[in-house]
Amino acid sequence: MNASKSDDRILIFDTTLRDGEQCPGATLNVDEKLTIARQLARLGVDIIEAGFAFASPGDFEAVQKIAQAVGTPEGPTICSLARAIPADIKAAAEALKPAAKPRIHTFISTSDIHLEYQLKKSRAEVLAIAEEMVAYAKSFVDDVEFSPMDAARSDPEYLYQVLERAIAAGAKTINIPDTVGYMTPSEFGDMIRGIKENVPNVDQAIISVHGHNDLGLAVACFLEAVKNGARQLECTINGIGERAGNASLEELVMALHVRRSYFNPYLGRPVESETPLTGIHTQEIYKTSRLVSSLTGMLVQPNKAIVGANAFAHESGIHQDGMLKNRQTYEIMDAKTIGLNDTLLVLGKHSGRNAFRSRLGELGFELTDQELNKAFVRFKELADKKKEVTDRDLESIVNDEVQHV
Ligand code: KIV
Ligand code: ZN
Repeated sequence: MNASKSDDRILIFDTTLRDGEQCPGATLNVDEKLTIARQLARLGVDIIEAGFAFASPGDFEAVQKIAQAVGTPEGPTICSLARAIPADIKAAAEALKPAAKPRIHTFISTSDIHLEYQLKKSRAEVLAIAEEMVAYAKSFVDDVEFSPMDAARSDPEYLYQVLERAIAAGAKTINIPDTVGYMTPSEFGDMIRGIKENVPNVDQAIISVHGHNDLGLAVACFLEAVKNGARQLECTINGIGERAGNASLEELVMALHVRRSYFNPYLGRPVESETPLTGIHTQEIYKTSRLVSSLTGMLVQPNKAIVGANAFAHESGIHQDGMLKNRQTYEIMDAKTIGLNDTLLVLGKHSGRNAFRSRLGELGFELTDQELNKAFVRFKELADKKKEVTDRDLESIVNDEVQHV
């Protein structure tokens, strides 16, 4: 779906390739970014923030190649980040040229602490820059998103003024970041309600939220934001990102899926409506998580909600007994909903090529016949030495043997 104004559908803006990649050690090369972007399109995200075109030649190339290969008319909107500086905006516009639906996401800080120590500018100066740079971005693309960085620690009255001017200058999405992950969920919800009630032209834009997990509250904050009018969520696969990471896509999407009758009324729908709240193909979640983990080298903790190794494992006798009688006793979602085969195939030396190919597919790897043959030989050699070949073994076999394109 196009990232147009949407009242009863929540847009998923994936920033794995921009904010996600900003975490130490998660650097991706251009081909790896392209592989992830293709998988994000299969997952059904509405917007891919492909990078920060001005940041480096590699980032520029990644945004450009993703715009070319994934930014088709039926595909997602492709976005580049840009500071509220002409050179950044120009670079973003240039890199996004091949995209059918390009978006420039420009930002400037609005909290007093950032204004005084980082930007060394007055509130009036920042107000003028925000307005001018949104208008400048608008001269290249129609779809402009504006973020007042550190919005959560900004003076609300000043924030309302900046947002009003950004919308008047043409911003179609106003994104509200909790840059340092400081807010509690009810405060964050109140902030979004304040924006809805106090920015006079707010109905001309989609309200988006962006948040970090310093206190482990990003997803909870976003869910309160949805209840108060936010209709775009900025998130990353496995919650990777600066410091403690960003809000996690899989947690948000599955919370909105499992609890849709709770959230439906906030989107103006009847409680019993079964229309999905997001456009995400949930069966693609698990393989996307594995792909991002293996290419970034960022491990997923075993007890991570939704995609951790133990998320669908039952250990205690009481739980197992309950599960055998009725799965719903201890299960709020079916593993198959996220694309996980709940009868987990254990791969060993007796396993055949089909089981091997199927498991690789679940992990997000689509190999050619030739690549599969090479990887299968390595797998058999390893299976002779080990009782069980784990997913991690499979990922390293593929990473060693096959070039990701
Ligand atoms: O955390 C943040 O404030 C950001 C902005 C650039 C949106 O990543
Ligand atoms: Zn961020």
